[in-house]
Amino acid sequence: MSPSEMAHETIILGIETSCDETAAAVVARDSAGRGRILSSIVRSQWDSHRPFGGVVPEIAARAHAECLDELIRDAMAEAGIGFERIDAVSAAAGPGLIGGLIVGVVTAKTIALVRGIPLVTVNHLEAHALTVGLTDGLDPPYLLLLVSGGHTQLLLVHGVDHYTRLGTTIDDALGEAFDKTAKLLGLPQPGGPSVEKAAKQGDASRFVMPRPMLGREEAHFSFAGLKTAVRQRALQHAPLSDNDVNDLCAGFEAAVLASVADRCGRAFDLAAEMLGEPVADFVVAGGVAANQALRQTLRDLAESRGSRFHVPPVELCGDNAAMIAWAGAERLARGLASPLDAKVHPRWPLDATAPRAIGAGVKA
Ligand code: KG4
Ligand code: ZN
Repeated sequence: MSPSEMAHETIILGIETSCDETAAAVVARDSAGRGRILSSIVRSQWDSHRPFGGVVPEIAARAHAECLDELIRDAMAEAGIGFERIDAVSAAAGPGLIGGLIVGVVTAKTIALVRGIPLVTVNHLEAHALTVGLTDGLDPPYLLLLVSGGHTQLLLVHGVDHYTRLGTTIDDALGEAFDKTAKLLGLPQPGGPSVEKAAKQGDASRFVMPRPMLGREEAHFSFAGLKTAVRQRALQHAPLSDNDVNDLCAGFEAAVLASVADRCGRAFDLAAEMLGEPVADFVVAGGVAANQALRQTLRDLAESRGSRFHVPPVELCGDNAAMIAWAGAERLARGLASPLDAKVHPRWPLDATAPRAIGAGVKA
């Protein structure tokens, strides 16, 4: 790339500390809206949380504070640039665990203040939602399935800062259902990859699980009943052999795929009504989008609907800071920088106007 081309690039440092991954990345966005990743470093805290069987918020916040400076230094070194080349700094300001969010946002504010550059605080969910702009150069509108440890949502992405929520879970998020299933079957955390690996070796026809929400009018999800079904089958067959565990995981995953495909199919119809034309692009993002069987099922669904399918590479499905930097760059390009007293938002829906879904334990 020539120096004049480089001059038209905005270089942005991204920081992610909303849950149990500390991440820093440097991303460039050119004036035509194309992005490239100069560095992206993710450090998982799982070894610190493993003895407790889940993420402990205080441990997470402390672990972020302990390693974030070093991670930023490493991300800058890997990108091969100094702070004088950074044009803006972005950090996830929610949704997530408040202690971790404060660590990331205060660090970003400090850099912005000392360097005299813009601060952009971003919604972590928006960062997942916009990742395909960085990886595929895809522009909205598109239909998005966002599946992570804390969220399961179907969204119509109209543009940066503009989302219509078509569906959400009325109880557990999909990643949470994978994690809880792994826990009850004695598989290591994070549960998604463990359940996926076991399911690959299992027989899905041995334990047929309920397919939640099939055929429902609204594009909502529910996974709590499925988790209970796995528990009941596990208790009936205890003590479980490795084969039993594999078959239970395969049965669970098959039910998940059937339910998710049905709910996404409904969202295709709702989105088409809203857009006044068929959905041209379908995107899946978030940590659970790393699941190969889910990717294939949703690719097939998109194809059957005459729609193009997009999913980020596996390393950009889970939490990372490249997506935060990119969302920051996209916002900055639209004049959406943040004030230096910007707040963190432990709860921060992408579509604040969406009504609460009916059901217990609602996740907006
Ligand atoms: O997006 P993410 O990294 O963090 C949140 O924002 O929540 O998503 C993490 C979730 C976890 O629940 C994890 O078990 C799940 O994504 N996950 C998977 C797979 N890899 C990660 N679930 C199913 N299959 C996978 N291969
Ligand atoms: Zn996430």
